[in-house]
Amino acid sequence: MIPEAALAALRAALGADAVITDPDRLAPWLVDERRLFSGRALAAVEPQSTAEVSAIVEICREQHVPMVPQGGNTSYCGAATPDASGRALLIRFPRLSRLRAVDALAGTLTVEAGMPLAAVQAAARDAGWFFPLSMGSEATAQLGGALSTNAGGLTVVRYGTARELVLGLEVVLPDGQVLSQLQALRKDNTGYDLRHLFMGAEGTLGIITAAVLRLFPEPAARETLLLNVRDAEAACACLNRARRTLGDTVESCEFFTREALALVLAHEAGARDPFAGEAPALLLLEIAGTFDAARMRDTLGELAANLLDEALAADVLIAESPTQRAAWWRLRERIPAAERAEGGSVKHDVSVPLGRIPELAALAVAGVRDRVPHIRCSVYGHMGDGNLHLNFLAPVGAVPEDFRATHGQALSADVHALAVRLGGSFSAEHGVGQLKRELLRATRSPVALGLMMRLKQAFDPDNLMNPGKVL
Ligand code: MLT
Ligand code: ZN
Repeated sequence: MIPEAALAALRAALGADAVITDPDRLAPWLVDERRLFSGRALAAVEPQSTAEVSAIVEICREQHVPMVPQGGNTSYCGAATPDASGRALLIRFPRLSRLRAVDALAGTLTVEAGMPLAAVQAAARDAGWFFPLSMGSEATAQLGGALSTNAGGLTVVRYGTARELVLGLEVVLPDGQVLSQLQALRKDNTGYDLRHLFMGAEGTLGIITAAVLRLFPEPAARETLLLNVRDAEAACACLNRARRTLGDTVESCEFFTREALALVLAHEAGARDPFAGEAPALLLLEIAGTFDAARMRDTLGELAANLLDEALAADVLIAESPTQRAAWWRLRERIPAAERAEGGSVKHDVSVPLGRIPELAALAVAGVRDRVPHIRCSVYGHMGDGNLHLNFLAPVGAVPEDFRATHGQALSADVHALAVRLGGSFSAEHGVGQLKRELLRATRSPVALGLMMRLKQAFDPDNLMNPGKVL
């Protein structure tokens, strides 16, 4: 690679101001969200069109320049951070962020990769529809990154992960060709479904530049329940009862323990415990339906009465106002920030079949307490998806950095082994990136790994697309 030749070709193709080499501008893009990884880059480019992305990829291929696509840079696994060599080109998407088309009859949007998720949601609302992909980072996380990592978030229990919301995809392949499959078809049985190769590939097989997204009717009524439950087992039973009563109107199902809540209460101004310290664990259920709001409220009342009668929940609250609803959601959504404010945690993102969630929660906590007495366990997550974040904090008085350095690896090994033993995955929604590559190797079968390697080799024989990630 001759860096100057590559930069000159990029400037000629894109214009000088689209090629960024200023170290101050590059700096925030060279570290990941969690500050676990930092790297260097030859430059960053900000293409304005798919044709420009294709031109960039061709130049990089000719000049042997590795490419790192980066959306909102909110990966938890370092998926968008270049290595330390300084050889890679960062490809960023703030200028490739247009709404290309709206089909208000079918309920689809065609959107470019750089649009932030919150803006996609707003575009759907403007068209009279609802786009459900939602997560804490949605103001900055971009569509391309969310699709590349097959992001999950808060509504998977009803609408599925990112890949389930995509009808069509446009991708620039590692040889510069554009795979244009922006059709808005619900049904298309014409051989291999190539779309799904790119979702979850984290930019290692090509660069997603646009997508056709499925929209849903905007629910006419939305209600929020907060339950005081004994433990994860009781929470699962409540969810089961709610689903049987309310059908697929359960839109979110978030579980968090009192220890996780305590962190938010300690760090979030104005946060208040709705159960005044009496709930061992909480279950937040969001119910959304297109039917009559009064009828929905009646059904919720019946559900609440049944949960109490059967002692599945000790208390059931139904939000009385948007302010109350927002306050409850804040208790759940601010847990990661509260962990950071407390000095950080050893984080996990595991999934198991739903029925094994109670074992996962109980055995993980018992296991880590054996290892480190007085360890603080922040257990929370998208329980309805079989996905818990089992995060561990230093005992009160211990130095967080020392705790993580001493125990982090062993705690993670225990949690991941437990998840796999229960038939689960070490990464439910945060992906693999560079953080969890070894886990992928350790837990996928040789057959599966071999196939992944062959795919990578077939798509990207020069290993220039986000090298060092996933595989
Ligand atoms: C969440 O569910 O809040 C995130 O996926 C976990 C986190 O931010 O640590
Ligand atoms: Zn999560």
